[in-house]
Amino acid sequence: AIGDADRGAKVFRKCTGCHQVGSDASNRAGPHLNGIFGRRAGSIEGFDYSKAMDRAHDDGMVWDIEHLDAYIENPRALVSGTRMSFRGLKDPQDRHDVLAYLRQFTAN
Ligand code: HEM
Repeated sequence: AIGDADRGAKVFRKCTGCHQVGSDASNRAGPHLNGIFGRRAGSIEGFDYSKAMDRAHDDGMVWDIEHLDAYIENPRALVSGTRMSFRGLKDPQDRHDVLAYLRQFTAN
């Protein structure tokens, strides 16, 4: 386990203005985050990503734990020009907990 998923559910409230997870999840301002672990960046069908995220996709970036951690810490530092206007989670525990929560929505 990488963090506390129950606590991460509360941290995820900082994301729910733009992202959904779960069986009823749909794309909003941001893409739904079901199955994000191990998925290629910028690959949710029907979501209009930024050019920057399309480029990360074309470069083969995959959302493993390291890339997810870096992106939610400082989105623009990892993907310069990303449309995700979120200042980031500076506390490592917050990041680990929210990723433990999100991990539950990726099968395997
Ligand atoms: C993209 C996570 C907060 C808007 C993404 C992606 C992840 C992510 C993993 C990449 C998705 C993919 O490649 O399919 C999170 C987490 C958040 C958070 C964990 C909270 C800690 C927010 C907030 C907003 C937002 C608050 C809106 C203000 C977006 C947008 C994209 C995105 C628009 C697409 C970026 C692009 O095309 O460049 N987010 N996000 N996110 N997120 Fe967030």
